[in-house]
Amino acid sequence: MNDDTSLTVELTDDGSATLFVPALDEHYHSVKGALTESDHIYRDCAFLHRAAINTTKPATPLRLLEVGFGTGLNACVTAMAATEACAVHYIALEKYPVDAGLLEKLHYGQLVDGHLLQAIHHATWDEPVAITPHFTLEKRKSDYLTDELPKSIDVVYFDAFAPEKQPEMWSAEAFARLIETLNPGAVLTTYCAKGEIRRLLTALGMRMERIPGPIGGKREILRGIKS
Ligand SMILES: C[S@@+](CC[C@H](N)C(=O)[O-])C[C@H]1O[C@@H](n2cnc3c(N)ncnc32)[C@H](O)[C@@H]1O
Repeated sequence: MNDDTSLTVELTDDGSATLFVPALDEHYHSVKGALTESDHIYRDCAFLHRAAINTTKPATPLRLLEVGFGTGLNACVTAMAATEACAVHYIALEKYPVDAGLLEKLHYGQLVDGHLLQAIHHATWDEPVAITPHFTLEKRKSDYLTDELPKSIDVVYFDAFAPEKQPEMWSAEAFARLIETLNPGAVLTTYCAKGEIRRLLTALGMRMERIPGPIGGKREILRGIKS
C-alpha cells in the first residue's frame, strides 16, 4: 500500500508536515495540523486522560497500543509527556514502516524533542527499547488485522487510515478483537467521529463520548472507555 517512492511530504495548517499517499488519496495526519492532532487527540484526550486516573501505587507503566505507528509523531509527543508518575510501555503496530530518508524530510526534530525523535526512529523493531526511564517503545512490524495483539492494554491510539479508505481496519470483527485486549477503564481515542463507528464501539461494550476536536481541526472526535 505505502510504496515509499510515491509518498510525498506536505505542510499542514499548523506548520507541521505530514505524508500523503497518492494511491489512497489519504494523508497520515489531519491537513488542519499534524502536530496539533497528535497533541490533542492522542496525548491529551487519551494518554493524559487515562494517566490522570492511574491510582496504582507505586504507579505501574500504562500499556499503550498505537494502531499505525507511521511517522512516530504520536509516539514522540507521548514520550515527551511521560513522567515517573505516568510512565508508558508504548506498543506501536506498523505494517508498512516509513523509509528513514522520508522521515528526515518531515523535519519534526524542529518541532518536538529532536533527541527523543531520533531515538524513537532508530529503535530496533520487534523488541522493547527504553527510550527514557519513563518511556519504553516496542515498535512491532505487524499486521493489525491478522497478527496476535498485545494484551492488557490501558490506552489505544486508533490512528488507522479513514474508514472510506481502509474499511477493514474499522470492521466489527477487528474492533471486537481489539476490545478483548483492553483492561477495564482503558481509554481509546480516534479522530474519526462518524456515528456508525461510535455505534459499533458502543455495541461492543465501550462507553463512547463525542469530545471537542483540536483547535482549528475537526469539531468532534471520539473517545471510548472500556466498561
Ligand atoms: C493515519 S497513518 C498513522 C499516522 C501515525 N500515527 C503517525 O503519528 O504518523 C495510518 C498508518 O497505519 C498503517 N497501517 C495500514 N494498514 C495497517 C495494518 N494492517 N497493520 C498495521 N498498520 C497498518 C499505515 O502504514 C500508516 O502508517
